[in-house]
Amino acid sequence: MKKHVKPIKLGKLTLPANVFFSPLAGCSDYPFRQMASLFKPGLMFCEMVKMDALIRHEPSTYHLLDYDPSMRPIGGQLCGSKPQLAGPTARIIEELGFDVVDLNCGCPVDKITKDGSGSGMLKNPELIGLVIANMVAAVDIPVTVKIRAGWDDESINASLITKIAEQAGAQAISIHGRTRQQKYTGRANWDHIKAAKQAATSIKVIGNGDVFDAEAGLALFKHTGCDAILISRGTFGKPWIAEDVRRLDQGLSPFIPDVKETLLNHLAYTAAYQTDRKALLDMRRVGCWYLRNGTGTKKLRESLNRTKKLTEIETLINNYDWEQTNFNHSHC
Ligand SMILES: Cc1cc2nc3c(=O)[nH]c(=O)nc-3n(C[C@H](O)[C@H](O)[C@H](O)COP(=O)(O)O)c2cc1C
Repeated sequence: MKKHVKPIKLGKLTLPANVFFSPLAGCSDYPFRQMASLFKPGLMFCEMVKMDALIRHEPSTYHLLDYDPSMRPIGGQLCGSKPQLAGPTARIIEELGFDVVDLNCGCPVDKITKDGSGSGMLKNPELIGLVIANMVAAVDIPVTVKIRAGWDDESINASLITKIAEQAGAQAISIHGRTRQQKYTGRANWDHIKAAKQAATSIKVIGNGDVFDAEAGLALFKHTGCDAILISRGTFGKPWIAEDVRRLDQGLSPFIPDVKETLLNHLAYTAAYQTDRKALLDMRRVGCWYLRNGTGTKKLRESLNRTKKLTEIETLINNYDWEQTNFNHSHC
């Protein structure tokens, strides 16, 4: 049977696997990426950063780009639509040591689209080409772009943008099969990814949307013929999902995680990196990600949500009756 998971080249860069982890604002933070790095996705991304903020040298923006070499291969993602900032900010990402620089043309948030950035750029494909060309001219690392299928159902233009991105010198394009109008609702329409793959000549097409388990990951490869897949919300509470896609592809048994140990590990990374207050809030959210995939976890979720002290979380996890929990360990 044809194998889907394999190394992939983006320009001069060879990535060890074609299963990637998405940029996720507020979520793909340093501790999340430390967890992800244990399971070796082919590429992972930091949260998006605004071009304007990078140029202004805002410390909080640079903080989002903190990474450890164990997280490599790693990409930085820029959000902005000013062609004159594209080159200098791409160079900043390269100088920080990133392996890939990506342009965000998918963010649906009004605050971002109102100045024509994020998915606002889908309304102006020529501008996407110009911004990419300026990035490509400024750096040696591969430049990629992430788009949605289109602004709305009446203006699907993923295939057109794929051609424009290719001509501008991008090595790959990630396509989220939803429109901007859908935001995160409904289903991602993988047919738009398939059409873009058929329109592509040399640019790699990366499929994205609704991969929540290994079966869906392989189905996305099969349905679209895409060169790589990008997993987003499916990574929440399942940092091992890339490993599980690989195992399913090779006909191996599912990866069996130790959820308690993984949660304790995520807690340790979070407590070491964030302030106590931030770590407490983050662990309520992250704890819920891990626990919602199992039965018998409700009491622990509730007590995590009630706790007011970071130091209590470890005790809550250690003292919980894990015998009564049951996680679905088919291919996650
Ligand atoms: C909380 C959250 C934050 C996101 N942040 C980013 C981001 O910074 N950059 C980006 O390109 N996409 C971002 N996305 C979009 C995802 O990368 C992805 O395209 C989308 O969730 C569709 O994939 P999924 O259905 O598998 O989740 C975000 C999505 C969510 C839910």
